[in-house]
Amino acid sequence: MKAIRGATTLASDTPQEVREKVKELLNAVADANSLKAHEMICIMLSSTGDIHSLYPAKAAREAGFSGCALYSSLEPDMEGSLALCVRVMILADTDRAIKHVYLHGARVLRKDLSQVINIALDGPAGSGKSTVSKIVAKKLDILSLDTGAMYRAAALKCIREGVDYAEKSQVERIIENIDLRVEYRDGKQLTLLDGKDVSGEIRTAQVSMLASYVSAYPSVRAKMVFLQRKIASEVSCVLDGRDIGTNVLPDCPFKFFLTAAPEIRARRRYEEDRLKGSTQTYESILKDINERDEQDKNRAVAPLKCAEDAVIIDTSEMTAEEVAVAVCEKVQEKI
Ligand code: DC
Repeated sequence: MKAIRGATTLASDTPQEVREKVKELLNAVADANSLKAHEMICIMLSSTGDIHSLYPAKAAREAGFSGCALYSSLEPDMEGSLALCVRVMILADTDRAIKHVYLHGARVLRKDLSQVINIALDGPAGSGKSTVSKIVAKKLDILSLDTGAMYRAAALKCIREGVDYAEKSQVERIIENIDLRVEYRDGKQLTLLDGKDVSGEIRTAQVSMLASYVSAYPSVRAKMVFLQRKIASEVSCVLDGRDIGTNVLPDCPFKFFLTAAPEIRARRRYEEDRLKGSTQTYESILKDINERDEQDKNRAVAPLKCAEDAVIIDTSEMTAEEVAVAVCEKVQEKI
């Protein structure tokens, strides 16, 4: 279940204005969240003390929102409160990510509820970014965007097309028209290549290495960064990657850079992969990690680098849960 917030202001206290603005607000919340009538459990409305002409719940019923419980209440008069303001909270039976809706200058009182929030989580391979990103996203009830998965899908496309990845023009030609999308099912990211979910297939050592290689091409990066910025502008999400704080979202107010010694990162990967049945040795994983670090740090375009204003967290001695708690605490401090 999710709680979706919204608010609007009225131009005047007349029944007609209450009807129009409540209808507009509820339709906007429903549209923004693709809410079906049967998913709405209840609609709670409140109005500021200067509205006397009509109960907002009555306006909601008249607007057709009558299939669920409706409730109106009066807000206390507070100094600094908006005039002629109707607020709503809809409890909805959905697992989808939600959007809050504020119309006609209705003031946003809780930034975390009302704005699109992006959190940049950068760091080298094995620093725990993607695990931490998922935990943070869950705690804050937002999405987690694994940007590495997108570079991996680009690499997989090159493998499938049999291009010589050292040939820049060949790679560029393939990536220019790549059909790459990210979707969410039950809050979980699916990476779709040519319309098919490749989330599992992009996790091989071969794809890892090739992703690091092709991600150095400016045109590949431009394409991925465009997609990432689009997603980040539409939904609140934690983006984990290499260049989120420095390049994708340089103005992002929440930037973190996770580090850990290569040996620790390799050990983590080794344990993780072993559980999945991989037979790759610790030594070869460590070698891959060192190689990828070099490639990612030394490429000319948007190399792996800590943003000047990022909070650095050395995760060597921390569990993913502890890192996630530290990230959430910092975010809450700033909200
Ligand atoms: O995070 P990962 O290991 O899944 O990423 C795979 C490769 O993609 C990584 O070696 C470098 C590249 N990458 C990148 O260049 N920029 C990002 N934002 C994310 C990943």
